[in-house]
Amino acid sequence: MSKLLLTWWTWFIWSHTTVELLQAWHEVVIFDNLANSDQSVCDRIQQITGIAPVFVQGDIRSLEDLRGVFADHSFDGVIHFAGLKAVGVSCEDPFGYYENNIVGSMNLLRVMDEHEVRKLIFSSSATVYDAAASQAPFAEDAPTGNTTNPYGTTKFVIEQLLKDMSNWKQMDITSLRYFNPVGAHQSWLLGEDPTDIPTNLLPVMMEVVEGKREKLSVFGNDYDTTDGTCLRDYIHVVDLAKAHQIARESQWSGYEVYNVWTGSGTSVAQMITILEWVSDKPFPFENVDRRDGDIAISVANVWKIENKLWRKANLGVKEALEDAMRFRGKAW
Ligand code: UD1
Repeated sequence: MSKLLLTWWTWFIWSHTTVELLQAWHEVVIFDNLANSDQSVCDRIQQITGIAPVFVQGDIRSLEDLRGVFADHSFDGVIHFAGLKAVGVSCEDPFGYYENNIVGSMNLLRVMDEHEVRKLIFSSSATVYDAAASQAPFAEDAPTGNTTNPYGTTKFVIEQLLKDMSNWKQMDITSLRYFNPVGAHQSWLLGEDPTDIPTNLLPVMMEVVEGKREKLSVFGNDYDTTDGTCLRDYIHVVDLAKAHQIARESQWSGYEVYNVWTGSGTSVAQMITILEWVSDKPFPFENVDRRDGDIAISVANVWKIENKLWRKANLGVKEALEDAMRFRGKAW
């Protein structure tokens, strides 16, 4: 058991990870500026685990806030989630993304160093892979960079900073490169319900199911894939959350990167078919032009996580869609 600081921003992935860590008897302090989340999620976490996580309101852009929480608690390690993640918004507001994601991470690393906290898990993204220079399935040593939007640039830059911190400040750091997180907790108490207008596939599909949108626009059906629509590696959020716990408990010295992961691609057309199957209803959609910046196939090479962390993804896309629908109150 260890005492961990979790920097939060939105609560989808982070809340599920908190549950897994508490259930594995880690002590958790949540640090969140509440810009895009709601403290009541702590009550839901307590309902599931029976344990109330400690909550501290603070912002990673503020050295003062960070120094405050490190002065009040003695941490064995940090799991760093806090950061903005909307690709489209990052193109309109690159400065906001650099400030929150890069400056915030630098502040966190500085205060960790001041307090000699040397273990960190970072939530990175498959978006760091240079899709023009390598082909899916992406292995961890595939070329990175050449990012197509400021959000991706921030994840790429932070990974470089972390490598330096590991080399020159003797920190043990693990970057988890998430593919496409989907699904919800099986308790139906936690899931994805963005407060802003969603752009990711699953929340958009849920809005169609709920009747908030007339239909899904399928971005491109002329890609070089089996059915012409894009393939993604959709990872159930509960598996993703468990990956953080395992990564934390088996952290070696130095800098490590892992894809998280299923290793198989599901097309947008297949997602529609599976949703029709679990909901037993036709799902309205139309094929429209490709979306700028999309690549045909984004799938993880899973050799490293399966062999070094001894961890396979357990849950599939069908479970993810069922759980997401249950969470949104749409039992079928
Ligand atoms: C993006 C980010 C990724 C991030 C992920 C989840 C990039 C290049 N990708 O992935 O880093 O982890 O979001 O936050 O930075 N689609 C439709 N119609 C829609 C919405 C999506 O057809 O209304 C299709 C897209 O074309 C794509 C697939 O669904 O083929 C998944 O899209 P999305 O959920 O937005 O995730 P990515 O763009 O793959």
